[in-house]
Formats: sequence, C-alpha cells, structure tokens
Amino acid sequence: MNLLVRIASMPKIETPCLVTAAFEGETAAPRLAGISRLAGGGLEAALRQQEFSGKKLETLLLHLGEACPCRRLLLVGLGKREEVSLEKLRQGIGAAAGVLKGKRIEALAVDFGSFRSAGNHERETAEALAEGLLLADYRFSRFLTENREELPVPLRQALFCLEEGSHLAPVEAGIAAAVAIGAGVALARNLVNEPGNVKSPAWLAGQARTLAEENGLHCTILEKADLVHEGMGALLGVAQGSSREPCLIVLEYDGAAPDQAPLVLVGKGVVFDSGGISLKPAEHMDTMKMDMAGGAAVLGTLLAASRLRLPRRVVGIIPVVENLPSGTAIRPGDILTSLSGKTIEVLNTDAEGRLILADALSYAKRFEPECVIDLATLTGACIVALGHQAAAVLGNDDELIGELIACGEASGERLWQLPLWDDYSELIKSEVADVKNSAGRPAGTITGAAFLRKFAPEEHWAHIDIAGTAWEEQGRPCHPKGGTGFGVRLLMRFLRQPAAP
Ligand code: BES
Ligand code: MN
Ligand code: ZN
Repeated sequence: MNLLVRIASMPKIETPCLVTAAFEGETAAPRLAGISRLAGGGLEAALRQQEFSGKKLETLLLHLGEACPCRRLLLVGLGKREEVSLEKLRQGIGAAAGVLKGKRIEALAVDFGSFRSAGNHERETAEALAEGLLLADYRFSRFLTENREELPVPLRQALFCLEEGSHLAPVEAGIAAAVAIGAGVALARNLVNEPGNVKSPAWLAGQARTLAEENGLHCTILEKADLVHEGMGALLGVAQGSSREPCLIVLEYDGAAPDQAPLVLVGKGVVFDSGGISLKPAEHMDTMKMDMAGGAAVLGTLLAASRLRLPRRVVGIIPVVENLPSGTAIRPGDILTSLSGKTIEVLNTDAEGRLILADALSYAKRFEPECVIDLATLTGACIVALGHQAAAVLGNDDELIGELIACGEASGERLWQLPLWDDYSELIKSEVADVKNSAGRPAGTITGAAFLRKFAPEEHWAHIDIAGTAWEEQGRPCHPKGGTGFGVRLLMRFLRQPAAP
C-alpha cells in the first residue's frame, strides 16, 4: 500500500472514498455538515433513521454523487471523544479498511483532522492510523489457487489529507515508522501462518539468513552438531523425536557501538508441537503450527529495528525444533542435562517449550546483555488466566516489567503481570534431578516461568507468555484470522523509548 501525505481541502479531494472519524453524540458537528451537503441530505436521513451514532467501530458509507471528485464518504465511529485512545484509532481505521476491502474499493483518503481532533500528538496519530491500515490489510493467501479474483482486494493507496497550515513532517515520520513496524508484523504473521510441512527448522533458519542478508544483520546458525558440541541437552532432547534436525538461530543487529550492552530477545521456535509422547488431543492440534510465534516476533522485531535504524544493539536467539512422538522421542521420566549443567526430569513431553528455552536463556548470558526478554507460546494455562486479551509477563525485574506493561498499553499489545514468588519454585523440585519440567495444572503459567527462571540471568530478565495472543481465531479489525504477530509492536515500543525516532 502506498501511504501519501497531502494538504487538501476536504470534499474537493479526488478519491473513491474519504474516511472521516465521528464521535458518539457529535454527529451534528459542523465538520460533517460541510461534507453532508454534497450527499444531498443522505447523511441527515441516515442519522434520522439512527443508522449511525458514532459508537466505537460503527461505519456508514454514503455516495456523494457523480459530480463530486470525492465519490464516497465513509464515516467511522470512535466512541466518546474523551475516551479515545491510539488503540481506538487503529481499530477504527482498521474497521474502515475492512469495509472498503469488502466492497473492492482500492484507494482511500483519510480526513486526518477528524481523527486528530481526538487531541493526540500528530506523529502518534499518523503512526496509529497507518499502522491500523497496514495491520488490517494483511491476508495469508499464498496457498489459495482457486477463485483468487474473489479474494478481498489489497489496498493500493491511502492519502492522508491535512488541513491548510498543517506540518507534513510529523505525519510523514509517523507513517515511516508504521511502515517499518508493519513490515515486521507481516513477516511474523507470515512465518506463523506457514504450515508445518513447509517450515522445518532448516527452512526457518533459511528465512533468518535471507532476512539478515537483506537488512544488514549478522546471522549465525548453530546446526545439530554445534548443539551437541555445546552440550544443549535440553534442546536436543525435545528435537530427538523428529527426523528434522534442530538448530539455534542467532541474529545480531548492531545499531550502536560494540561497547553498548545489547538487549537480547529469545523466542520459542517449536515449528510444530504435537505434544510428543505426551500427545495432545486431535482437536485443534493443527493450530500448534503457531508454536514458533515467539521466534517469529523476534525476527519481525529485528526486521523493524533495522528498517528504522534504531540506535541500539539487539540480539535475537531462537531455538528451533519440532516436537513429535516416535521411536526416538524423549519419554516421560527421562532426565536431560542442559547447557547450564542443571539436570531436568521430563515428566511431560508436552512441556517442551521451557526445555528449549532453558538452553537458549543460558546461551543468552554470553552476550552480557543489558536485559533479556523471552517470548513464548508457553502454556495453555495462560489462556485460562487471561484469555486472548492480554499476554502474561513475569520475571525478576519489576522495573523492566513495569516498562514493558506501559509499552503494551501504548502499542495495544497488552500485558498483565503474574507473581513469581519463591514459593512457586518449590513446585518444580524433582526427587531425581535438579528440576522437573511440569508441576501439573495449578498456576501453570507461573510454574512455567519459575522453571525458566532457573536458567535465565539472575537479574533484568522478563518472560512473556503469548499463548493466548499469538493466534486470532475470530478475526478482528486489525487482526485477520491466523497469526497476529503479537510482540513486534510491543518490543518496538520498548526499543524506541525514551524518545521515539
Ligand atoms: N505450546 C503449548 C502451549 C499452548 C497451548 C500454546 C495452547 C498455545 C495454545 C505448550 O508447549 C504446552 O503444551 N504446554 C503445556 C504444559 C503442561 C504440560 C505443563 C500445557 O499448557 O498444557
Ligand atoms: Mn507443548
Ligand atoms: Zn509448545
């Protein structure tokens, strides 16, 4: 999609559709009256019939007549003016994009001032609107071969129209940031949506290599022999049930001097999680191709960070395996020796994420990081606790967690902290090894984090459980069905603070 900025007086703008924001209880505003004259009373009639009231995500499409260069008007409700947030802007414009795509209208003009009047900063407003459009425009259609002409059309152009006397620069900067971040989200979604037969660990490593080549990142792949040499027994243990060999992807983005301590991002990369010998039920097992969503978010973040040339050092570490049952698979009761030297009793082969992350977190310490953040579709219990509305955050650094929660609020990718009191570590003690990989149902998300804590750096570590937010079942304005790319926008917020470039 082409995103352009222009100074233009509203109804005179030549466009198939002008998108204007309206607020609940303000549908008679003078701004709308000007445009509505062109609709020949159509707007007033619609309002009289109570077809539109400005409620959140409500839309109304009107034709403005053959003679008008602006052919249609699409009103989108944002709810009450005083309750508007950046997230409502994203969702509002996302809903508008959905209407246009459904009607095969490929271009739009955005009445920027109508959205701006929500009182937000110009750059933030532009970024949220551009982000909303890009997120809503995504569709994974690579494997559809029949009736492709019936697919919703991708948006070709969005023209941001500003009033006379406005500054173009902040709006252009906001759009540029959204384009970079949008590319990161789209990459993460594509990788998650890719089916398990395609995305072997070797395939994902190839994607990382290409990403590095195209964007000036440094990429190292530890192959199986390297993992054996290192002694990553936990990672290798999970991988041994599959004929597809595991690997560890290490990507480095050097946007700052080598003496700056990097931020290390670790992402779970289980390309398919059948549960292994502790096999999962058949129902919904197909969605377990998304069990590398943490790794996908790390790749997406590195892409966005390099596109935006952030002045930071960022390292991405992704342990990649497939969790399958077979004659060579690990069994419940097996004991693995991890890279850290700690031994792990495997009580449930379906608690595989924490095993591969244990070795990846130990490996992360070699980079002497400023802080380590891991993202993982780790526990079904996270969905029980928070549903699909927020991810769980836990760790050993409340300041870091506080910052992440604030970034979640601003980005629309929400986090909620769960406690990680020492008492929970009691639950993962084993009789025969240093730790066990499952403590059963109670506090499942917390005991998962308590396990990771034993391998993570002693300070400045946070774990984000994205089991409930990585995959969209229903389809929402900015989240088409399938992979959501959750984590990219959150981490980009985090990387861009304090000042957003
Ligand atoms: N990948 C799953 C967690 C998951 C479940 C993610 C549903 C997304 C949606 C993870 O590997 C897993 O199976 N966890 C187990 C842990 C248990 C055996 C301690 C779980 O949550 O049941
Ligand atoms: Mn599992
Ligand atoms: Zn898993």
